[in-house]
Amino acid sequence: MAQLNWGMIGGGEGSQIGPAHRLGALADGHFRLVAGALDHRPEQGRAYAQRLGVVASRAYGDWTEMLAGERGRDDRPDLVTVATPNSTHFEITKAFLEAGFNVLCEKPMTLTVEEGEEIVRVAEKTGKICAVNYCYSAYPMVRQARAMVQAGDLGRIRLVVTSFSHGHHGDATDADNPRVRWRYDPAMAGVSGQFADCGIHALHMASFICNDEVTTLSADFASTIPSRQLEDDAMVNFRMGKGTVGRLWTSSVAIGRQHGFDIQVFGETGGFRWASEQPNQLIYTPLGGRTQIMEKGEAGLCEDARRLSRVAIAHPEGFPLAVANIYCDLADAIRGEPRPGLPRAAAGLRSMAAVHAAVASARAAGQWVDARPPMFR
Ligand code: NAI
Repeated sequence: MAQLNWGMIGGGEGSQIGPAHRLGALADGHFRLVAGALDHRPEQGRAYAQRLGVVASRAYGDWTEMLAGERGRDDRPDLVTVATPNSTHFEITKAFLEAGFNVLCEKPMTLTVEEGEEIVRVAEKTGKICAVNYCYSAYPMVRQARAMVQAGDLGRIRLVVTSFSHGHHGDATDADNPRVRWRYDPAMAGVSGQFADCGIHALHMASFICNDEVTTLSADFASTIPSRQLEDDAMVNFRMGKGTVGRLWTSSVAIGRQHGFDIQVFGETGGFRWASEQPNQLIYTPLGGRTQIMEKGEAGLCEDARRLSRVAIAHPEGFPLAVANIYCDLADAIRGEPRPGLPRAAAGLRSMAAVHAAVASARAAGQWVDARPPMFR
């Protein structure tokens, strides 16, 4: 099968998520990097793209140059990844979709609900794929958890409890560090800090595993470091369409917690737990039965969990390979085999609606509010 052409915007040298995209996109040979505008500093971006093997004429200084240079080519990218800071996602994603490119956008997909709805509409109108990098949902054992819920192994889901709480912004004396400060600056981050940064991964995961959507929520936000304009800790209670009760805690000041993303799902006939720090294991307890550790790579897992595992049982498989699984699903989708697990623009929009609902709720002393985007009510 022919390799797909890939372009990248952002994710330059020294960026946090850039290497995971490059390792992920290239891991299985589905994609090759042919064009890039990798850095907000044009010269650094051009030089780095060339060091990564992009020819000089396709190593661009900024994304508008890349759009102009690539849109008319026969060998233009089959997919463009947007891995820039949040405030630029909408403009870049919309422009590339409108020019007929498939796009993988980093989360949060947009800053506002209106922008999210616009992206969903443009993707529908152009027929192009707009995916959002909810990469944790692509771990094999998360796909297994979703398949078990879909198969009814846990019965009706009563309760979901999830957290994405780390302590890496817990040092008040480091609050002015430029890599930390923008996340709590409304001009750069939008209306929400920690919830929009990490909480939406947990909220998406709850929807993804339960195969259900968040309908209402009540939020309590706190800036535990008082100089921060946006929250660094949030507790969000939510409800889903099929009646599931949800509890979500997200924090960046939980010193001692490293990555801190886990989820527990409790149904009528069983429960399970998955944690990103032990991604190859799903801890499953059937009602009245023994607790079992299900391992990535073992016999009897669902088709998705088998398809998205590369190395044999007991060998570790990490974060870039979860991103690689997003690229596998994208490659299949671009080649005409849609994969239901691939998070699309609708998921990005639902997150934005939840972020804005949480902000409104937190400002109204935790009042319950509708968390659905107007388009999906
Ligand atoms: P970063 O600040 O480490 O890197 C941003 C990169 O984008 C830099 O190379 C910068 O030069 C480049 N850039 C900035 N503006 C640009 C522009 N207009 N055109 C081209 N390049 C530009 O940021 P980080 O942490 O890598 O985050 C980037 C995005 O990825 C954010 O939206 C963030 O929320 C998301 N992210 C997602 C994760 C996930 O698990 N899915 C994990 C970490 C980040």
